[in-house]
Amino acid sequence: MYVGGRVPLHFQEDFCGTGLLSTEWLHSDARRTAIGLDLDVEALDWCMENNVNKVGADVSSRIFLFHGNVLQPLEAKLVNVATQYLMQNVTLGDSEDDSPDHKLMKDFQFPARDIVCAFNYSCCCLHTRQELVSYFKHALSALNKKGGIFVMDLYGGTSAEHELRMQRKFPNFTYVWEQAEFDIIKRKTRISLHFNLHKPQRKIRHAFSYSWRLWSLPEIKDCLEEAGFQSVHFWIRHMPDSEDIRSTYGLAAGRDIKYEEVTSFQQQDSWNAYIVGVA
Ligand SMILES: C[S@@+](CC[C@H](N)C(=O)[O-])C[C@H]1O[C@@H](n2cnc3c(N)ncnc32)[C@H](O)[C@@H]1O
Repeated sequence: MYVGGRVPLHFQEDFCGTGLLSTEWLHSDARRTAIGLDLDVEALDWCMENNVNKVGADVSSRIFLFHGNVLQPLEAKLVNVATQYLMQNVTLGDSEDDSPDHKLMKDFQFPARDIVCAFNYSCCCLHTRQELVSYFKHALSALNKKGGIFVMDLYGGTSAEHELRMQRKFPNFTYVWEQAEFDIIKRKTRISLHFNLHKPQRKIRHAFSYSWRLWSLPEIKDCLEEAGFQSVHFWIRHMPDSEDIRSTYGLAAGRDIKYEEVTSFQQQDSWNAYIVGVA
């Protein structure tokens, strides 16, 4: 709705991890392109092996995965050299090193992105205001100025600011989300994801661990505006109370509660927000 009625085609998934959204994005329209960027080369390799290499060349040629820091995106290194070929509307700029093994993001002239996203609370990986503003400036510079949008998510609520442990049961495994501590001076917390596999029975403790700063919504808004976004919008829904969902089955808990665009929202035990910045 913010993209001015144009069909969004060009997508960038920052902090993409295993790049699932990027690969999904490509499926429904042959004109779509996706760029994924992450610091974790193992996650990108997993994406290549399990997502990109399993789809046809038509799809895999439209995804560009980069290994690097969202704070220096132009220096990020292309990892899926073998699967992508140069599309009609993506050209290589003049580069001193023409070896395809060393292509950096700055060597490409990608079409301006219609959507840049940072999901799964990834902006909390950035710990200082300076980093956050700098990242938002990079996101803005990648966006189409005719209505391109940046989207990120954030969680919060009274239950989000102390130790917290929740588990979700699936047929073959149980997934445990643990927030180990919450420092109210630094607003820092340590998140660990554990998996208990059922067959064979095995625990994978700390499969993923993150040090997060839990930003507040007004801090995000201020930083987006400081970075130059034209407007900022909040879509929020309250989540089921953390006491009630300490242990749930599958992904269904609270699915019926819809997100609404709001300018004011009263504190809850738990809420989830999507924040949209218009370029
Ligand atoms: C919470 S995970 C989210 C992964 C993915 N978006 C998802 O939903 O599964 C955060 C990701 O951000 C990456 N990351 C953290 N700091 C980063 C940075 N400065 N630049 C690029 N990626 C970063 C981590 O490697 C990790 O894959």
